[in-house]
Amino acid sequence: MVHGAAPGHGSIQGVTSDFLAACRREPTSRTPVWFMRQAGRSLPEYRKVRAGTAMLDACATPELVIEVTLQPVRRHHVDAAIFFSDIVVPLRAVGVDVEIKPGVGPVIAKPIRQASDLDGLRALTAEDVPYITEAVTGLVRELGDVPLIGFAGAPFTLASYLVEGGPSKHHEKTKALMRSEPALWHALCDRLADISLEFLRVQVGAGASAVQLFDSWAGALSRADYLEFVAPHSTKILRGLGDSGVPRIHFGVGTGHMLKDFADAGADVVGVDWRTPLDVASRQLGPQIAVQGNLDPALLFASPEVVEREVTRILDEGRDAPGHIFNLGHGVLPDTDPDVITRVVDLVHERSAR
Ligand code: CP3
Repeated sequence: MVHGAAPGHGSIQGVTSDFLAACRREPTSRTPVWFMRQAGRSLPEYRKVRAGTAMLDACATPELVIEVTLQPVRRHHVDAAIFFSDIVVPLRAVGVDVEIKPGVGPVIAKPIRQASDLDGLRALTAEDVPYITEAVTGLVRELGDVPLIGFAGAPFTLASYLVEGGPSKHHEKTKALMRSEPALWHALCDRLADISLEFLRVQVGAGASAVQLFDSWAGALSRADYLEFVAPHSTKILRGLGDSGVPRIHFGVGTGHMLKDFADAGADVVGVDWRTPLDVASRQLGPQIAVQGNLDPALLFASPEVVEREVTRILDEGRDAPGHIFNLGHGVLPDTDPDVITRVVDLVHERSAR
């Protein structure tokens, strides 16, 4: 066991968690907090265990996945663990030639440009990812009453890597394909939705108690394009998990112009980046949706006074939301001082204790 969760609500199978309570818009003893990319390069203990192992090989090694997932829980006492994996893991599992280049991101050997390229994108089954089942099962045992968040990439963000061939600033090939060849685009996204849905089902089946769908790059789209070309596919994933009973978090960066659409896709919680204050976001989202966020990850590099002021402001702005899970507005940056992250966790817990 890592450490006991604070007394709270959100009880599943006799386990209490402020994180799950906030997801379900139930009362909490204090505001729960975790960080996107909390497991990873900001931690020296991560760099130590990862040395000499390629990222995607690490993701297929359960003992390594378990250790790296637990590291930030031990160090920072966050209220939830995020499964150590990557959004491209299920793509590799169905045979896509993808590699994660350090400091760059996912790189695809044969980008998708035409209908015949879809042949390489078959359906995912649980048998393709036995190491995921094994890692999640082991983690749930180790974590005790700290919930594990499973995750997957949403179709737009995955499609961007597959079509561009790697990380992209403007997503120009992706947007061009989406608008010029809508039938191919929808066929691609439909396959990606099936793959991500199955990847999440495997994690939930093995014991993950919440899921987050990452559509990190969807904010690059206009609202109209999001609704026509992306929302139906993300909806298939989130609604597809409706009967699982686990809270569904839907996150994107720069999505202030379509937060309600992110909720309507079938989310219980919407992740908000630092550009939109949580009270503004929550007014748009209404009483049925909890919010997650939204400290600017760059401000973890500012003075302690600034960090403290921002944490207090965000707790204040989140106070009237039907549920608030404290997080960053995007992932932890690699050079972040881990002690600052620990301090933020302590501040959130101290300042929100009821
Ligand atoms: O700590 C966690 O949040 C859990 C693990 C996690 C990783 N990737 C590990 C990782 C999660 C949730 C992801 C999701 C992910 N991967 C997203 C969505 C979230 C987001 O940040 O927007 C995206 C877009 C990817 C694709 C990807 N993989 C990128 C852009 C990178 C960074 C490239 C770099 O080196 O700067 C990766 C690699 C990656 N995924 C690392 C980690 C810890 C770094 C690899 C390393 O340590 O060598």
